[in-house]
Amino acid sequence: MTANELRTMYVNFFKERGHREIASASLLPENDPTVLFTTAGMHPLVPYLLGEKHPSGNRLTDVQKCVRTDDIDEVGDDTHLTFFEMLGNWSLGDYFKEESISMSFEFLTKHLNIPVERLAVTVFAGDEMVPADVEAETKWKSLGLKSEQIFRYGREENWWGPPGQTGPCGPDTEIFYDMGQPKCGTDCGPACTCGKYVEIWNNVFMQFKKESDGTFTELKQKNVDTGMGLERILTIFNGKTNVYETELFVPVMTKLEELVGSSEMSMSETDKRIICEHIRATTFILGDPKKIAPSNTEQGYILRRFIRRMIRLFKKTGIHENCLCELSKVIIDQYKEVYPELGENEEFILEQLQKEYTLFAKTLDDGLKKANRYLQNVGKCGVLSGDLAFKLYDTYGFPIEFTMEMAQEKGLQVDLDGFQKKFEEHRNKSRQGAAGKFAGGLADNSERTARLHTATHLLNGALRSILGDEIAQRGSNITSERLRFDFSFGRKVTKEELSQVEAMVNEAIANKVDVIMEEMTPEQAYESGAIGVFTGKYGEIVKVYTIPGYSKEICGGPHAANTGELVAFRILKEEASSAGVRRIKAVIEG
Ligand code: SER
Repeated sequence: MTANELRTMYVNFFKERGHREIASASLLPENDPTVLFTTAGMHPLVPYLLGEKHPSGNRLTDVQKCVRTDDIDEVGDDTHLTFFEMLGNWSLGDYFKEESISMSFEFLTKHLNIPVERLAVTVFAGDEMVPADVEAETKWKSLGLKSEQIFRYGREENWWGPPGQTGPCGPDTEIFYDMGQPKCGTDCGPACTCGKYVEIWNNVFMQFKKESDGTFTELKQKNVDTGMGLERILTIFNGKTNVYETELFVPVMTKLEELVGSSEMSMSETDKRIICEHIRATTFILGDPKKIAPSNTEQGYILRRFIRRMIRLFKKTGIHENCLCELSKVIIDQYKEVYPELGENEEFILEQLQKEYTLFAKTLDDGLKKANRYLQNVGKCGVLSGDLAFKLYDTYGFPIEFTMEMAQEKGLQVDLDGFQKKFEEHRNKSRQGAAGKFAGGLADNSERTARLHTATHLLNGALRSILGDEIAQRGSNITSERLRFDFSFGRKVTKEELSQVEAMVNEAIANKVDVIMEEMTPEQAYESGAIGVFTGKYGEIVKVYTIPGYSKEICGGPHAANTGELVAFRILKEEASSAGVRRIKAVIEG
């Protein structure tokens, strides 16, 4: 089975069961200050899981591109990836446990032909707050799973979400494929890491919302949120032992072997896998329409980490040229039909890879010499000091994880606390990137966020009207304090233009205009003059938010009901974000 066949088979299966297909969202979540990447298909659906009506109905399915950086240290093993595609289906207050489990079982056993005895499942064991999931357990038994195939675990294993501080969450039932080898011990089960059990699908029964004070409230509706790893299913279905043997990695692995073949030294299998995995993740992040470039903060820092790690692995094998572009081209060619943004942004992807290579190559040799010297001299304690690790970061551009990896190869450690301390001392604007914030989190959809979201639409509309229709949104990020809006524009926006833009937004606020939401097909939206991306990447029905006289945009919401709620709008700053992209930060009083 090919990846495309699997994507189609999955989506069609759920479409035949009343689901509507929705588009894969950006890898960079909109309006969510606490999460760097989309880590699951549920991220773009948070407002709907919390009760907002989805324009495509209450049964949805899709294939969502995801990035999870917390698995980065596992990359190189048989199954863990940072970038992956998640096949998902959702019930927004429609079906619940029984039907969800039935459908998963049918898909696995009848369509993927996995024998029942190769399945193992886990269910929530219960705690003081939520009882054991007897309903899920009973359902699995009724489908033919034996008691020894069903495992009860607590909150650590069988509770999903929220990924950050607040948001929808609930108990889950996880489905594993039993690779067939004997148990590694009497306690061996799906939670064991010996490799016998590979997680393939998770069905989350989302009926709670975690509030910011740590309490849980019942959601208005009981939802189902499922996610299945495309790469893992392909591996299993095609009888492969690891993801790198699937069609998704064979072309890039072949190219890499060709490139490495000319070197005198050989590259380890693990290093090859890491490069193939990271070049795929890097290509997808760079290829996202939001055009993130390597930097020292947030997503840009993750990119930098991936790229610099690959460069070092090539160096280790005696390859000093930049091979990244050639590898990335293989990924682009392979995926651009399914993810057209890769083809559309090819120039940007290759340009950024080249730029980052050139930047890092300058300091890498000196840095490596220094790092080796430092590591030779760590003495008996076996720990590289935080000061020296910081020096490598600051002077030679070595991401801390990179230094840790070098130390680890020599059986040494790095004083991470010392590094963090030093880092804190030196941190300036680039606050969040390197020091943490790699795991996800979800913004709460407060009224203020909704108002800032409406302000963003007004700003976009005003910019288009003052600077010209050719400006296009490149990114948007909202915290409870401010909005940030990135847009394509070739020069600095003058002070005068900025005050015109600000005045126009304030005029819309003073006029107390109602914000109107309508649902329509993407074609109708396009014909009505709404702005948005019309690449067939939306579902069949979209929401269009109109602020008459000022803005008309395709958007998932939520928004203020009337512009008057914003009270007043002020631009704080206009600056360059990356080549050809400007950034505005602004606040409202409402
Ligand atoms: N959100 C759940 C997960 O990521 C199901 O997709 O496992």
